[in-house]
Amino acid sequence: MVQRYNSIVILTGAGISAESGIKTFRASDGLWENYRIEDVASPRGFAVNPELVHRFYNMRRRQLVSSVIQPNEGHEALTRLQESFPGQVLIVTQNIDNLHKRAGSKDIIHMHGELLKMHCSASGKIYPIRGDIGILDRCDCCDSVGTLRPHVVWYGETPLAMDKIYYALENCDLFLSIGTSGNVYPAAGFVQVARSGGAHSVELNLEPSEVESAFSEKIYGPATRVVPAFVDRIIEVATVV
Ligand code: APR
Repeated sequence: MVQRYNSIVILTGAGISAESGIKTFRASDGLWENYRIEDVASPRGFAVNPELVHRFYNMRRRQLVSSVIQPNEGHEALTRLQESFPGQVLIVTQNIDNLHKRAGSKDIIHMHGELLKMHCSASGKIYPIRGDIGILDRCDCCDSVGTLRPHVVWYGETPLAMDKIYYALENCDLFLSIGTSGNVYPAAGFVQVARSGGAHSVELNLEPSEVESAFSEKIYGPATRVVPAFVDRIIEVATVV
């Protein structure tokens, strides 16, 4: 019997953007774009060397706004799913890029923040940013120097919109995890939450993740191939009368 679903939650990670030219985090050398993750992605790293951290995210931002980086067939397939599926499809991404949005997806939660936003650590106010942030930049809201930082959730900080995410996970009947290594919590534990609510769970990744055993179905291959094929399958079942 074919299974029909009403509500889908999709967790995405760096693997979905890899074929767009954005490097994943856990390369075998343990570095992120040649930097130690704790130096550029932790509050302590920022306190020790804010100039380095700004330079690092400025480089990532420049790359993201350049024409070189474009959404790929994996992002586009998820947009197609959102447009064609009769029920709810929520995308929860760990990625700080904007490729889901640029592919036309609508219902997206950026649980680890967004590269094209900065926030004031004094007021919490969030601003759009496409250029560089510098250590001498003055914040518009408090007119102070040194309060602006990338709107990115670093190690040791709480991911965003967790109440909304857990509510969606507890109430979905299909949970997909795409392009994530399962190394970082709480995202790596979402499969357990979805399953405890009765959802079918599917891992789509290049290789088995750290939490592979928690999934009821696994499909391995590059996101540009496996995601469109899986989406076709879901849409076909959902639209059969
Ligand atoms: N298609 C599908 N999966 C791929 C592809 C691809 N083309 N290329 C790589 N992958 C897989 C890798 O096999 C790996 O399992 O994507 C996964 C990427 O894992 P990570 O680099 O650990 O990225 P992610 O899981 O998103 O990291 C989670 O860690 O550093 C923090 O906040 C950061 O959001 C990030 C979080």
